[in-house]
Amino acid sequence: MIRAIRGTRDLLPPDTDLWNRVEAKVRDVFARYNFHEIRTPVFEDTQLFSRSVGEETDIVTKEMFTWEDKGRAASEKSQSLTLRPENTAGVVRAYIEHGLDKLGKLQKLYYIGPQFRRERPQKGRYRQFYQIGAEIIGPPSAGSESPARDAEVLEMLATLLDELGLRGWTLQLNSVGCAADRARYNQALRDALKPVVATMCADCQRRAETNPLRVLDCKVPADQPIIEKLPKISEYLDDACRENFAAVRSMLDAVGVPYAINERMVRGLDYYTRTTFEFTHGDLGAQSAVLGGGRYDGLSESLDGPKAPGIGFAIGEDRLILALQAEGVTADAPLDAYIAPLGAGMNPQALKLARELRRAGVRCDLGDEAFRLKKSIEAAGKAGARFVVIVGENEVAGGQFSVKELATGKQEPIARERLAEYLRRM
Ligand code: HAM
Repeated sequence: MIRAIRGTRDLLPPDTDLWNRVEAKVRDVFARYNFHEIRTPVFEDTQLFSRSVGEETDIVTKEMFTWEDKGRAASEKSQSLTLRPENTAGVVRAYIEHGLDKLGKLQKLYYIGPQFRRERPQKGRYRQFYQIGAEIIGPPSAGSESPARDAEVLEMLATLLDELGLRGWTLQLNSVGCAADRARYNQALRDALKPVVATMCADCQRRAETNPLRVLDCKVPADQPIIEKLPKISEYLDDACRENFAAVRSMLDAVGVPYAINERMVRGLDYYTRTTFEFTHGDLGAQSAVLGGGRYDGLSESLDGPKAPGIGFAIGEDRLILALQAEGVTADAPLDAYIAPLGAGMNPQALKLARELRRAGVRCDLGDEAFRLKKSIEAAGKAGARFVVIVGENEVAGGQFSVKELATGKQEPIARERLAEYLRRM
């Protein structure tokens, strides 16, 4: 038997009803904040990710699904391609490629789709997973650098999670400063690591040289006491970054979005500047980050694009669904009625009635004239219908149908003209 590949999974009903409810709500909220959808390819030039996410990150060093293309054209030969491990790089590439900066306004873009990372699979961590993300990017003249955008994004996320009915979330907030702050902080980390790095894991030993900030990502338990004592980023922010972070916080205070400052949170991607954040959820165990994001003011330039500061986030949809389910949130996709044709030759009549009802907005399922009434009622129960509508010769002739409520067993005749309203109303 052929099975789904490790780290991938099938999403089945009724879970997919909840996925669809989440995505419908997301599109509704994004529209209210003037975000519009962008769809970028699922695979890209490998360099796009190594140059944006960063050569020294776990994603690029260990987790990407990369292959050499077998394209026959000389230009495609041995091109290195990668399944996208995240979508911000693709969005910024598209922004540059289509000259969206020339429109002179902010681009507010969102995406929903699969991402791929070769991580060790466990609950809440998959090799194919789904992200719901959004980015605000544009020329500085359009206000893309303003801390007001950071606050707008964070306030939107709080509203979205509230409207989805998720309760136990915490916003963890930090600032990783600008490129100059990061350079000074990296040097401070290098100095602090020098006397102790020989006792640390092999990854830390390499990162201490190449990209010391990434030492903070280390999960090896023996290294944690050393990491706890390292200098903090907040001590290395320049005045402008400090003021920027204060402005973001005061706007969150003004709208009443609660947050916790978490200075250790540097995020697993290299492109971040200034504001970074995660929303965590207590019911998710080890994989507690429901979403993550931040500002990336130099990303466009590092991909040879124009100056285009931006901020965005990606929700791990798999984890969001797990968190909602842990809180008992389910999708109610009720089936109003099950249409039960009763007796030979009644299939066409039942189809006709179902057509009328469905066109009138009633959710119904349709049985078969070969079923006896008892079997139809059982099938209606399995389908989750509230009512069974019996379609027999007498009912069709008399223009009135027996409607049975499954929960109570109550049965009453309803005229054809009133049927849609009756089934929907209840
Ligand atoms: P990220 O923190 O790497 O950020 O991923 C965002 C979210 O995706 C995580 O918080 C988590 O919920 C989910 N996620 C990541 N890996 C997995 C996995 N293996 N299985 C299940 N869920 C996972 C980014 O991807 C950035 N592009 C976010 C961003 C957008 N920053 C600015 N704009």
